[in-house]
Amino acid sequence: MEECVLGVDLGTSSVKVLAVNRQGKTIAQEKMDFPLHQPLPGYAEQNPEDWVNATTVAIVRLILNDRLNPNQIKGISYSGQMHGLVLLDKDNQVLRPAMLWNDTRSTKQRFEIMNRMGEKFVKLTHNLPLEGFTLPKLLWVKENQPDIFKKVKVMLLPKDYLRFRMTNNLAIDYSDATGTVMIDVQNQCWSKEILNAFNIPESICPKLVKSIDNTGNISQWYAKYSGLSVKTVTFAGGADNACGAVGAGIDSSNKILSSIGTSGVILKYEENKSTNYEGILQFEDHAIPNAFYSMGVTLSAGFSLNWFKNTFAAAEKFDDVINGARESSVGANGLLFAPYIMGERAPYADANIRGSFIGIDGIHKRCDFVRAVLEGIIFSFKDILNKYEENNSHFDTVIAIGGGAKSKLWQQIQANIFNVRVISLSNDQGPGLGAAMLAAVGLEWFNSVKECAVQFVHFKDVILPNSNNVQRYQELYKIYKKIYPTTKDITHELVSFRKNY
Ligand code: XUL
Repeated sequence: MEECVLGVDLGTSSVKVLAVNRQGKTIAQEKMDFPLHQPLPGYAEQNPEDWVNATTVAIVRLILNDRLNPNQIKGISYSGQMHGLVLLDKDNQVLRPAMLWNDTRSTKQRFEIMNRMGEKFVKLTHNLPLEGFTLPKLLWVKENQPDIFKKVKVMLLPKDYLRFRMTNNLAIDYSDATGTVMIDVQNQCWSKEILNAFNIPESICPKLVKSIDNTGNISQWYAKYSGLSVKTVTFAGGADNACGAVGAGIDSSNKILSSIGTSGVILKYEENKSTNYEGILQFEDHAIPNAFYSMGVTLSAGFSLNWFKNTFAAAEKFDDVINGARESSVGANGLLFAPYIMGERAPYADANIRGSFIGIDGIHKRCDFVRAVLEGIIFSFKDILNKYEENNSHFDTVIAIGGGAKSKLWQQIQANIFNVRVISLSNDQGPGLGAAMLAAVGLEWFNSVKECAVQFVHFKDVILPNSNNVQRYQELYKIYKKIYPTTKDITHELVSFRKNY
């Protein structure tokens, strides 16, 4: 019977569970969706029990439909949507819906944190306390739902809650813990200074563990519920971006990850924990022990393209609309798009900036608009890459995953705008593969994540920059860079206008 591990990828709209054998081949996979609740503008919540149920459905399907024998499954590990706040009471019952990474209600708390701690906060966490991160959400609950806050005994992140329900053990891994912005990065512990400044009891912060650490076997109850065996061991797992990086072989500082999902991420492996981008870029612990990564998030990457397609070409096939961009030309015939349609995180942490098409001309066709959207998303990635250039942080390879790797055209646009080679993967399984790798290393099938990557991660196309187009994009980028400062006030006013009516 072939041994395998499960990589559980707990996303924002669904959970995907991969079964991967010792050779790194995905032998089966199942997926299950769950709802996102947006009761008020800026709110984004989920019921943590929906994650448990959806994951169980996927596991049951692996056993019943794909005929995995529970005894085959030697280990399980997890990749989780980051920053989401899950609060439990003294009986480990969920106190309120989870507040997710894309919930932006905590602007007031964000500024309170900076007013109270200022630069000291950035020095300790290497991050700004942005709305997306966990601490401002916790302070929002403290201020607005004090009765709930009083009952809090445990704070968890999404995948840690899921793992707790499968094992009964409470733990949080370093890569997700740094995303709470409550970690002292230099000393690798919960920051007493931050906890004391905001009167948060340290007792609510679970034990910190490494991503490859054993977090206990499947519990008796969960074994009965799901059909899994109690002999199966769980391993902590990591933040989705850390796991995406592991699954894409980002294990040295010359490689950058470019990932396009709903949001877009530029991520760089960092060796040194004293590196600090002053919060312009996020800085997190990697899922690889004693390694780190920095990243910038474009909030609406794939989301911008989906928005465009659903709004202007709802009845057409997605691929047909995207391929239309080939009929346009480099620079979309003089049309620019800035993808700030839900606000932005990096390099401009601005919840109220909004997107724009600039330079609309009577000659423009729909294909130009599509091309401008593809290019605008990559220009916003270039804004993030510039921070590395400014810090003399060298890289020579971009590994593209997600939407940007599915289209050759989009991959070429990346190579030309970044002026560096762009490589795609032949087994682009996303963060679930990274999670499976953490289980494989936890089981000691491999001595290190790097050794596992040699077996599990395979490169496919290598796209080189085209020098003529590199130059044209360099000119265009100079114009793109002017969009944020010149549209900031106008779009802020438009957001206020809409709130008033
Ligand atoms: C990263 C972030 C998102 C989520 C998506 O800081 O907020 O990429 O991790 O799950």
